[in-house]
Amino acid sequence: MSVDLAVVPVAGLGTRLLPATKSQPKEMLPIGRRPVVQYVVEELSRAGVRRILFITGYGKSSIEDFFDINQQLITNLRRSGKEDQLAELAFERNEVEYAYTRQREQLGLGHAVLVGEPFVGSQPFVCALGDSIIGLQAKSRIVERMIEEFERTKADVIVAFEELTNPAEVVHYGIAQPKGPVTNDIFELESLVEKPAVDEAPSNLAVAARYVFSPAIFDELRRTPRGKGGEIQLTDAMRQVLANGGKGIGIRLPADEPRFDIGNFESYFQAFVDFALADPQFGPGLETYLRKKLDKS
Ligand code: G1P
Repeated sequence: MSVDLAVVPVAGLGTRLLPATKSQPKEMLPIGRRPVVQYVVEELSRAGVRRILFITGYGKSSIEDFFDINQQLITNLRRSGKEDQLAELAFERNEVEYAYTRQREQLGLGHAVLVGEPFVGSQPFVCALGDSIIGLQAKSRIVERMIEEFERTKADVIVAFEELTNPAEVVHYGIAQPKGPVTNDIFELESLVEKPAVDEAPSNLAVAARYVFSPAIFDELRRTPRGKGGEIQLTDAMRQVLANGGKGIGIRLPADEPRFDIGNFESYFQAFVDFALADPQFGPGLETYLRKKLDKS
């Protein structure tokens, strides 16, 4: 059976986006018309994912409300004949089954994924970080390609990578150590390192928030000590799976499927502008507005 299960960690505190995230999850911030997490779910559902386990945490309950069916709103819109607005709620009825559990302590991304183990058990699964969108309007096929690659190779770890153009940015991401020179979009992974110093980075390929794992990841997560920032790092557990002889595959994101990282204001603002400009109804008007404004400055 194809991989149809995804774990979506959404428990991070979003402190780099304060005060916007003081009383709402960063995953619910709008990018254009939709909250970030809606794009993530659409991307997964397009890739064939049918079951999503969110790893939530304190203050994240609006994510559950969002994917629920709001019968009262539907009734109100129907009564007042607002069919266009009703159509915006069609996502409530997509074929995905949602489950939620909470990471009760902030012990890091690796720990958040481990919290999913009692639900996932011994199945392979996709892991998609809830604060990153891949591709404009989430129109990326990366997860589908990763699942295909998993089925072909039965690797233990498959990771999407974004090529960083600015080498100084390696300090913010997990970084790939490929086996040999990378001549192809799909390559073998020797190892990985979490947020290395610029002069210690083994490549400029940054972990881009999408993974496919065999259940071997849980065995390692259970014994992964705290690493960078005092947190249990997913990257450290992946490195250990590979060190034990597990197979790792990297897939480079195509240039036309960039990653939008909603973890800091700089990339949040850029993502918002890109998505708003791509809006079929309001994009062209916004472009005229921005051009006029920028011409004046
Ligand atoms: C996490 C991971 C890192 C990865 C990044 C992608 O970091 O630890 O390896 O590159 O997500 O978004 P965070 O952004 O939580 O600091």
